Amino acid sequence: MSILIAPSVLASDFANIQREIEMLNASESDYIHVDIMDGVFVPNISFGVPVTEAINKHAKKPLDVHLMIVNPDQYLEIFRKAGAEIITVHYEACTHLHRTLQAIKQIGAQAGVALNPHTSVDLLEDVIQQIDLVCIMSVNPGFGGQKFIDNTYDKVRKLKALIERKGASTKIEIDGGVNKENAPLLKEAGADILVAGSFVFSAEDPISTIKNLKTI
Ligand code: DX5
Ligand code: ZN
Repeated sequence: MSILIAPSVLASDFANIQREIEMLNASESDYIHVDIMDGVFVPNISFGVPVTEAINKHAKKPLDVHLMIVNPDQYLEIFRKAGAEIITVHYEACTHLHRTLQAIKQIGAQAGVALNPHTSVDLLEDVIQQIDLVCIMSVNPGFGGQKFIDNTYDKVRKLKALIERKGASTKIEIDGGVNKENAPLLKEAGADILVAGSFVFSAEDPISTIKNLKTI
């Protein structure tokens, strides 16, 4: 199966968001990755609910909403109403992760869990069956355009083994510093979905860049 691509609009031209979303609609991308940063969980503020609604108004691809925020429980329903199909919370921001995953499913979204670079995939052992998607952060969250951390390949292999051992159907997503060099290696290690921000939006031809990433 070919890998799925989730371009991150964090790297897009916010002043022309409709045009950017229409470009993604016309591309072979599978999701639209929406990065929500609160300036507390991560040292940066991106955008929030009204911008997510504006993206959703034009999007013909499902929104993959990555919540880099503290107290995500408080915002699950709000982002679901704003159009999120996948809601990903951070392991490090959830004291009661199992409860949070149930809450995401109850509102009809797919449940994702993101792991910071220092967080081991082993910590998901007891909850993996409840998770639709694990997002392995391959940079420290907070900014686009950072350098990919090479330890990610090992994490993907370990997570893939855990998913298989537990008989789960969890998908593996990689987020941060994805490009045409590391994409084939990530696929080989077991990744299902690649998030790509600057690599897509700084390309001269984003549509063929997405196509090329898909056909690695
Ligand atoms: C990082 C965000 C990423 C980011 C990826 O905190 O979660 O989704 O937008 O951007 P690139 O592909 O430029 O690293
Ligand atoms: Zn992200």
